[in-house]
Amino acid sequence: MKFELTEEQLMIQKAARDFAQNELLPGVIERDEHQKFPAEQIKKLGELGFLGMMVDPKYGGSGLDTVSYVLAMEEISKVDASASVVMSVNNSLVCWGLEQFGNEEQKQKYLVPLAKGEIIGAFCLSEPEAGSDATSQRTTAIDNGDHYLLNGTKNWITNGSTASVYLVMAQTDVAKGHKGINCLIVEKGMPGFEVGLKENKLGIRGSDTHSLMFTDVKVPKANRIGEDGFGFKFAMKTLTGGRIGIASQALGIASGAFELALKYSKERKAFGQEICKHQAIQFKLADMATEIEDARLLCLKAAWMKDEHLDYGQASSMAKLFASKVAMDTTIEAVQIHGGYGFVKEFHVERRMRDAKITQIYEGTSEVQKIVISRGLLQ
Ligand code: CAA
Repeated sequence: MKFELTEEQLMIQKAARDFAQNELLPGVIERDEHQKFPAEQIKKLGELGFLGMMVDPKYGGSGLDTVSYVLAMEEISKVDASASVVMSVNNSLVCWGLEQFGNEEQKQKYLVPLAKGEIIGAFCLSEPEAGSDATSQRTTAIDNGDHYLLNGTKNWITNGSTASVYLVMAQTDVAKGHKGINCLIVEKGMPGFEVGLKENKLGIRGSDTHSLMFTDVKVPKANRIGEDGFGFKFAMKTLTGGRIGIASQALGIASGAFELALKYSKERKAFGQEICKHQAIQFKLADMATEIEDARLLCLKAAWMKDEHLDYGQASSMAKLFASKVAMDTTIEAVQIHGGYGFVKEFHVERRMRDAKITQIYEGTSEVQKIVISRGLLQ
C-alpha cells in the first residue's frame, strides 16, 4: 500500500492551492456577505481545466483521476466553499453523469462545453416534498410523441440561475415507481422553464441556490439520458460519485479552519504565553488534526476505489458522513480557539462554521449516508 501522491497529483494540488490563495481569497468575505456568485473565478477555474477534471480530453476534459479531484476540491474548499460546490456539481454530477450515461450526440452538444467550463450545469433531483425520499418525484415528464411535457418544481438547486444545462429527474410513469423516472437534459431558455427566487442561506452564500419551475416545457426525447425509466438509477449512481466531491469539500472546510486556528494559537498570548502552549488548546489541536487526517484518508480511499473501478458506494458514503461531521466539529473548535475574534467575519473562521453545515445535508443527509452504509453491511 502506497500513501504517496504522484508528481502529477502534487502538481494539481499545488495549482489548486495557488488558485485558491491568489484568486479566491481576495473578496471571499464580501462575496459571502453579499451573496455574490464568484463568476470571474469560476470562469478562470474552467479555463484551468478544474470544471471537467475527470472527463476524457476528447470531450474537452482534463483526463485526471478522482484522487486529483479530491486534492483539488480540498484546496479550493479550504478558502471558498461557495466556489467549490460549483466545481463539485459540475464535475461529479453533471459531467460525470453525461460522460458515463449520455449518448455521443449529447456528449458533443453538452459535455464538451461543460467540461471546458464554457458553461456550467445543474443537477435537479430535490423537490419541495422529495429530499431524502428521492423516489417520490412529483415533477412529471409525460410522453408526448417526440418530446416529453415537463411540469413541476425543483428546490435548492445549486447553480440554479448560472447554469445553462440542467439534468432534471422527473416521473414519466407513476405506476412504475422509481423505474418510471427519467433524467432529461433541459436547456435554459426552453419555453416554460423559469428560475425562481434565490435562497438566502446560512452558508455557501456565494453559490446560487434556486427553486426551478417547469410549466409544459417541451423537452425533446433526444434529451433523455439512457433507456426509458433509467432516471432514478442515473441519479443514484451519479450521487455516489458526487458524495466523494462533497466529502472533499467538507475536508477542505475543516482543514482551512484548522490551519487558521493553528496559526492563531501560535500568535495569540493569554496568561503570559502563546495559547498553543496551554494544554487545553494543544488537546483541541491534536483532536482536530487527527480527525482531519482520518477524513482525508476516507476521501482518498473512496476516490482510489472509484479510479480502480471497485464498488465505492459504501466508501463514498463513509467519507461524506465522516468528513462532514469533522467539518462541523473542527470549525466550531476553530471559532472557539479564536475566542471573540472567531465570531467576527474578518478572521475567516465563522464563515467556515456556517459553510460546514450544508455538507451534512446536501447530496444526501448524514442519515441517508447511514442508510447506504448499513445496507451494505447487512447485504
Ligand atoms: N447505484 C445504483 N443503483 C442504486 C443505488 C446506487 N448507489 N442506490 C439505489 N439504487 C437502485 C436500487 O438498486 C433499486 O433498484 P432496483 O429496484 O432495480 O433494485 C432502486 O435504485 C431503488 O433503490 P432503493 O430501494 O434503495 O431506494 P430508496 O427509496 O430506499 O432510497 C436512498 C434510497 C439511499 C435513501 C436514496 O433515495 C437517496 O440517496 N436519497 C438521497 C437523495 C440525495 O442525495 N439528494 C441530493 C440531491 S442533489 C444535491 O444535493 C446536489 C447539489 O445541488 C449539491
